[in-house]
Amino acid sequence: MRLKHILTTQQFSDKKTLEELFKLANKFEIWDKKRKIPQFLKGMISASVFYEPSTRTRFSFESAMLKLGGEVLTTENAGHFSSAIKGESLEDSIRIIGGYCDAIVIRHYEVGAAERAAKVSLVPIINAGDGAGEHPTQALLDIYTIWKEVGRIDGLKIAMLGDLLHGRTIHSLIHLLPLFKNIEIFLVSPKELKIPQEYKSFLRERNSRNAAAFLEFPSLAPNKSKLSPAGSLGNIKFTETEDINRVLPQIDVLYTTRIQKERFKSLKTYERVKNSFVIDEKSLKLLPKKSIIMHPLPRVSEINPIVDNDQRAAYFRQAKNGLYIRMALLKMLLA
Ligand code: NCD
Repeated sequence: MRLKHILTTQQFSDKKTLEELFKLANKFEIWDKKRKIPQFLKGMISASVFYEPSTRTRFSFESAMLKLGGEVLTTENAGHFSSAIKGESLEDSIRIIGGYCDAIVIRHYEVGAAERAAKVSLVPIINAGDGAGEHPTQALLDIYTIWKEVGRIDGLKIAMLGDLLHGRTIHSLIHLLPLFKNIEIFLVSPKELKIPQEYKSFLRERNSRNAAAFLEFPSLAPNKSKLSPAGSLGNIKFTETEDINRVLPQIDVLYTTRIQKERFKSLKTYERVKNSFVIDEKSLKLLPKKSIIMHPLPRVSEINPIVDNDQRAAYFRQAKNGLYIRMALLKMLLA
């Protein structure tokens, strides 16, 4: 599939593109270890335009570009160090920056900012996080990590834990999961931070679309006698709960998230919920031996550092995978 911009994971509507991406990321990892990376992007320039802080996303995108032979322009606090401070609109900034580079990686505090940028941009726009909206490249590296660590995605039970209201990585991940079979998700959060309705509607709508397709073409149904919404092709069973201890023993993947302090209207509420869930030694005892623990990072207090020594802690490996997925994405977009 030819990618034009990367704005949302909803663009990734077929498994083939993901397979292509994962294979390429894998090749880049091998080439990188041998220090023999084909210079696919020689002569090209990417611009990182970040209106919100970042460590992993910006550095891994820039490292990816440099490793592929390209070059980077960067502003890490675009709200202050670009003409935004003088009142220039996002659209005008993008029009101008696009004239100096071949792709723009943008992180912004407003939902929909990347889409607005794409409307006026002459070069590909990559959404590196738009407020509490989406973070598609993170979700792609998350799925890649699950595939690498567990060996499959179909049939997995995944718990998403923490700030499901503001967590853009969760939002992007949810849009990807219907590509896989028999997934079950547990949405575990304090009640103030439950997943927005639109993501539940998305899952329900996907499930009913599948059920309708099976009724029309029964041969598509994996189990013809059982057209239940849960557990068939592309269907996702999901449960909302606050009871993490009941969920932990049942899952293959624990996806933990940071409580997004910067998005709270009231710091009082933040203080009340910030330590609702902490993964520690006790949680490790409840988690199955073959499960993995993920986190997009940065973590604050959601995962006790004692967990880092456990083989199931996959979050640092997950962050490293970001480099290879972003190399593959840049190649697919630009080469
Ligand atoms: C995430 C983000 O920015 O949304 N970080 C990342 O890109 N790895 C998660 C977070 O900030 O909590």
